[in-house]
Amino acid sequence: MKAQEKDAIVNTYVSRAMPIPTLPTAVARILELSGKKDVKVEEVADAILTDKVLTARMIRLMNSAFWGIRRRISSVREAIVYLGLHQIRSIVLTTSLFNAFPDKNPDFNIIKIWEHGLGVALVARRLSQRVGYEDPEQAYIAGLMHDIGEVLLSQYSLKEFEEVVEVVKTEKISFYDAEKRIIGVTHSDFAGWFGQNWGFSEEFVEVIATHHDLNKAALNRPLVAIIVLSDLLCRVRGLDYGFEENLEVSLKDEPAWKILKEYNPELQKLDLARFTLDLDALVDEVKVIVKDIYKGIHSD
Ligand SMILES: [Fe+2]
Ligand SMILES: [Fe+2]
Repeated sequence: MKAQEKDAIVNTYVSRAMPIPTLPTAVARILELSGKKDVKVEEVADAILTDKVLTARMIRLMNSAFWGIRRRISSVREAIVYLGLHQIRSIVLTTSLFNAFPDKNPDFNIIKIWEHGLGVALVARRLSQRVGYEDPEQAYIAGLMHDIGEVLLSQYSLKEFEEVVEVVKTEKISFYDAEKRIIGVTHSDFAGWFGQNWGFSEEFVEVIATHHDLNKAALNRPLVAIIVLSDLLCRVRGLDYGFEENLEVSLKDEPAWKILKEYNPELQKLDLARFTLDLDALVDEVKVIVKDIYKGIHSD
């Protein structure tokens, strides 16, 4: 299906159902500022401090074992100076995205999507480091947001989405395949559309829109490849949406892996069996971390 046809379907749904959900002001502002050059500490601090709950959560996350900072951070300004805008953006999104949207569909737990997103984010950051990708923090955020389209779809109480959930449950196929069959467009198409409306950077929009269709990625193929692999690795090990899925992954045959080998020819020499074992261990670690961090946020 052509991009325009997909846009037309997404438009029909959006106009039929529903207002466009808004991102929390502080989050939208941080995303906007992090795309600009010469941003002042004060501007970022002011944007965060307008949101007291966000501020408290950020301080708690930064001081948790999860984030692994060696000194104690006591204020937002100190954090920005010490960690830099890139990491601050990751922390803001990690603590705020998950509760920016209410849980609306009884059969579909959106916390699971954020847990999966955080898992993919952490694996993507580690994978980036291993394959020598230049911006692991960008990969972290791309991972965190890659399935935001699923959250959006769940917001609209569409009968088609209920059918998708049903088909996923009974046939054990992916949401992507079920959405294509029942709605005609997928969470990637929805989120690509919203990402543009929300002013996300082109690279984030590309990851969100093409993470199930790597061939369509053109702007930053290594980044999309990292997210595709991290997503598969998490899903195949049960860090998924909470539905059973029949899925097998063989790293060496994945087109995404081929792209990364072109990006870094050194990877040809990598012992794949060992690397996969490392990733297994990482996903197990990530599962524990994910539980821990969202439990912490929930107790607010
Ligand atoms: Fe997805
Ligand atoms: Fe995913």
